[in-house]
Amino acid sequence: MEDKALKVRRLQEMDVQGKRVLVRVDYNVPLKGEKVLDNTRIRETLPTLKRLIEAEAKIVLIAHLGRPKGKPEGKHSLKPVAAELEKLSKYKVNFAADCIGEAADSVVSKLSGGEIALLENLRFHPEEEKNDAGFAKQLAKHGELFIQEAFGAIHRAHASTTGVAKFLPGCIGLLVQKELEFLDRVINNPQRPFLAILGGAKVSDKIGVTLRLLDRVDGMLIGGAMCYTFLQAQGVSIGKSLLEAERVEDAKRIIEKAYSKEVELLLPADHLAVKEIKEDASTQLSQGMAVPEGWIGVDIGPRSIEIFQEKIAAAKTIFWNGPMGIFEMKPFSKGSFAVAKAMAEATAKGAVTIVGGGDSLAVLGQAGLSGKMSHCSTGGGASLEFLEGKLLPGLAALSKEQP
Ligand code: 3PG
Repeated sequence: MEDKALKVRRLQEMDVQGKRVLVRVDYNVPLKGEKVLDNTRIRETLPTLKRLIEAEAKIVLIAHLGRPKGKPEGKHSLKPVAAELEKLSKYKVNFAADCIGEAADSVVSKLSGGEIALLENLRFHPEEEKNDAGFAKQLAKHGELFIQEAFGAIHRAHASTTGVAKFLPGCIGLLVQKELEFLDRVINNPQRPFLAILGGAKVSDKIGVTLRLLDRVDGMLIGGAMCYTFLQAQGVSIGKSLLEAERVEDAKRIIEKAYSKEVELLLPADHLAVKEIKEDASTQLSQGMAVPEGWIGVDIGPRSIEIFQEKIAAAKTIFWNGPMGIFEMKPFSKGSFAVAKAMAEATAKGAVTIVGGGDSLAVLGQAGLSGKMSHCSTGGGASLEFLEGKLLPGLAALSKEQP
């Protein structure tokens, strides 16, 4: 496992009994007003919290929410998250109105063994994202030990994810371990055939991972808006569909690499298309891979769904990142839901299925299939960067000499 190669300590190897423990969590959850719309990221940290509570540790949780640009903003307060954590865990959660200074110190200093404090959004301070050493030191003051439990933010080099590790002995928590174990299995020892399904809009974000995955997988399905750049690279007309023109050459390289490595790379065989992106737009199905002139592809078509379902059913390991269409609009969500359903059926038949990324998780949530995968990763960008083979800063920081 990667964390061993990096000589990163795990929670099980640390003496946390009665200690004040600083835990970086990723509670960057979707909110509607004060309502937490999806609490997966909070729920997934409960095993670590339980273990710490049993050891009578004083738990200081630090987290970010959204991208508030370095100053306090009500809509990015973690207060509703504290309430949700309290509801889920049944433990009292003491909320501090700031993550450093008097407000934080007074809450932290009153903690008894087995109690939890959640400190206000780290990103209300610009020093967090700048990985400022002074700010990291102030955060580190809250603990005697540091636990990295924010898998979703582990690809960020911020004060709370890497900086604090310079000042405290640290380890990875149970969620980070679980994430790494699953993703490591995908990278190093997959049951075959191994299939990757990539979708979503941004080709740029996925070029690296696509190239690297071609060294690992037996097949790759590309849907979602990113497929149009690949179709363009093959000289297929894409109408007015989303194109990342500056990535066409990269797409060509990927197609060539797939060919030379004999990896089956499939693009959609047909599309659902509209003239205007709106929920009640009239639609047409393309007759083949090409999108008609003046039309925009918004989902994969029925023939593609059938082919993708067959490939998923035949695979033993499947990694999925990115929806197949504009799933937020019901009429264009069929392809994404069909992939989710096929993945659930594959899991039931024994395949290892891994889903990463906020949008794909949202598809699963809407389809009621979240519990039907082998692993739902709490990190979108983080899981992709791990699979791409990048050294994740939040892990690398822990691998250095412990103080
Ligand atoms: C995420 O939601 O992917 C993580 O919490 C990281 O958030 P960020 O992309 O704003 O750094």
